[in-house]
Amino acid sequence: MTIRHFLSLMDCTPAELQQLIARAIEMKAQRKAGTETPRFNNHVLGMVFEKSSTRTRISFEAGIAQMGGHAIFLAPDHTQLGRGEPIEDSARVMSSMVDVIMVRTFGHDIIETFAEYSSVPVINALTDDFHPCQLLADIQTYVEYRGSIQGKKVAWIGDGNNMCQSYINAAIQFDFELAIACPRGFEPGTDLVKKAGDRVRITTIPSKAAKDADLLVTDVWASMGQEKEKVQRRRQFAGFQVNKELMRHAKSDALYMHCLPAHRGEEISAELMDNPDTVIWDEAENRLHAQKALMEFLLLAAKG
Ligand code: CP
Ligand code: NVA
Repeated sequence: MTIRHFLSLMDCTPAELQQLIARAIEMKAQRKAGTETPRFNNHVLGMVFEKSSTRTRISFEAGIAQMGGHAIFLAPDHTQLGRGEPIEDSARVMSSMVDVIMVRTFGHDIIETFAEYSSVPVINALTDDFHPCQLLADIQTYVEYRGSIQGKKVAWIGDGNNMCQSYINAAIQFDFELAIACPRGFEPGTDLVKKAGDRVRITTIPSKAAKDADLLVTDVWASMGQEKEKVQRRRQFAGFQVNKELMRHAKSDALYMHCLPAHRGEEISAELMDNPDTVIWDEAENRLHAQKALMEFLLLAAKG
């Protein structure tokens, strides 16, 4: 049996992704109705975090507990990974003891190596290149508020970072148009953009990307690991803020999202963040439901 991993959205078929979103919505409804049935008693999730987290840690840890299982939080300064034990050895050993592992790390090659040596499913909980779990939550949120995202226009405003690159994969898998507005020199990876073909367009003008969009998305200007560039990036990204003025270019019922943590007054205005109608808090909550659906899918696939 081949172990299924979730290192990017491309590890699932479009049909599987649709199924995951539908299941996440169903699991959310069951949880709210108090009819959830824990099916994974004694299952253990290993959580490797080489970067900080609020949402990812809580949603995975709460999620596996709600499914009947347990989580082990592994910070680099508390494991031998942090003292240089090879990724290959760590993956072999950890996977011999737990049922599923999530990894938040720097280079995407690290998680690829980890998955290669793991005997259980590995989930990408963010690398420098991709953040696919966040996309499950984002698409779930869009579907809940507006129905299918197929054929819609999404505008990405800001850095061509791990979230932007995940949106490119999402455009391919969920079949929507993606207009990316980023300053010159901050574009997403060329190969990835090429792979998406006509679905993805890049501009340096935010209002052009936002024009007639159904959804606007942004993220921090300096990601984890880029802290030293923070001040310089603040200058380079000036004008790339999602705010009321930019929203005027989008469709009148357009939604806006942010994976959080957000910097009010930088990539998003305080006014939009604090708008009582924002779906951003649902987007954050949906990490829980989407990842429960994902863990269920991977654990059931591993059982064969
Ligand atoms: N959006 C997200 O992944 O948040 P955390 O960094 O808090 O996990
Ligand atoms: N692009 C951000 C996302 C945080 C959830 C980062 O990598 O820090």
